[in-house]
Amino acid sequence: SRRPAMETLIPIINRLQEVFLTVGAEVIQLPQIVVVGSQSSGKSSVLESLVGRDFLPRGSGIVTRRPLVLQLVNVAPPEERTHTENGHGIKQSSQNSYPGIKAEEWGTFLHCKNQIFTDFMDIRKEIVEETERTSGGNKGISPEPIYLKIFSPHVLNLTLVDLPGITKVPVGDQPEDIEAQVQEMILSFISNPNSLILSVSPANSDLATCDALKLSREVDPDGRRTLLVVSKLDLMDAGTDALEVLLGRVIPVRLGIVGVVNRSQHDINTRKSVADCARDEQAFLQRHYPSLASRCGSRYLARTLSRLLMHHIRDCLPELKTRVTVLSAQYQARLSSYGQPVEDHSATLLQIVTKFASDYCCTIEGTARYIQTTELCGGARICY
Ligand code: GDP
Ligand code: NA
Ligand code: MG
Repeated sequence: SRRPAMETLIPIINRLQEVFLTVGAEVIQLPQIVVVGSQSSGKSSVLESLVGRDFLPRGSGIVTRRPLVLQLVNVAPPEERTHTENGHGIKQSSQNSYPGIKAEEWGTFLHCKNQIFTDFMDIRKEIVEETERTSGGNKGISPEPIYLKIFSPHVLNLTLVDLPGITKVPVGDQPEDIEAQVQEMILSFISNPNSLILSVSPANSDLATCDALKLSREVDPDGRRTLLVVSKLDLMDAGTDALEVLLGRVIPVRLGIVGVVNRSQHDINTRKSVADCARDEQAFLQRHYPSLASRCGSRYLARTLSRLLMHHIRDCLPELKTRVTVLSAQYQARLSSYGQPVEDHSATLLQIVTKFASDYCCTIEGTARYIQTTELCGGARICY
């Protein structure tokens, strides 16, 4: 099956991390992606389609009741994780080699020390049970995050945050000030300047009343890190469509507006595969929004995020270059104080960074080309 579009970034990020390690710099921090929206707008569904796996609890009413901080960790594939007898078989750094683990993908929770979850159904079950442990069984919420790590050769080193939805009227064990509590919880995540905000708004409700956009404006007034996702395009009333919204004529959003069709409750209940859902989403968009189909959908959303992450990386490169120069000058000075003749290695390191920067620029163009070519060739992959 076709892997999520964000996967094309994996080799780039991994190479960049190597350069960072070489110069002893801190490993690059990609922005964390936070979903915000009203209850049942489709936040958990959007995150799942980005990861390409089916494992978050979803459904009508309040399902996500604690923040879930989902850290994706890129690891070597299983066949590259084992030691050979002479010890030279490790192709990845020890940081992501995990020689003891045979599973291709697995998860761990901060609250379950030493337990490895290889079945994604068990991961979902554990999220539900851990939610109930702190927030009870009756719709209560808690600001205490659940920390989940997913290890896989198919993910980017990226953190995604799933949050409870904005809600107005307390139900079950919820406190009177539920609206304020949830808002505070959301603000604590999206006020982090290193957060990209995915504001999710269902197409079958009025965008002008979108509380998520209101909240994100508070922390991101210029809209530099907010992307609007319009979900449930398939659930609009007959005779209406979201064209005006998607074209930005209702509310302009600087980073863009992406319409999606997530998995419906029926799709979840009948266990329709992620791949089948993606195919049907594309067909729906072609049928109903032919002029916009190439700028809509979950795959396009993933590509848009990839592009934003690339921009972030590009912004980090000048600082990396400075760091190489400074470090190298320091070592030169120290070495010359020992009175020995010294070769200058800074040129080499700068070359690595510069080469990366230029490779990376090719990659932006390459990605654009990749997108066109995959569309033309119906999914042929080009590797970098
Ligand atoms: P959250 O509360 O914002 O996290 O929303 P969920 O992701 O849990 O989704 C709430 C319900 O809406 C689930 O039953 C989903 O299957 C359904 N849903 C979400 N997005 C869509 C969509 O685009 N189309 C349809 N038909 N159903 C959707
Ligand atoms: Na929900
Ligand atoms: Mg949810």
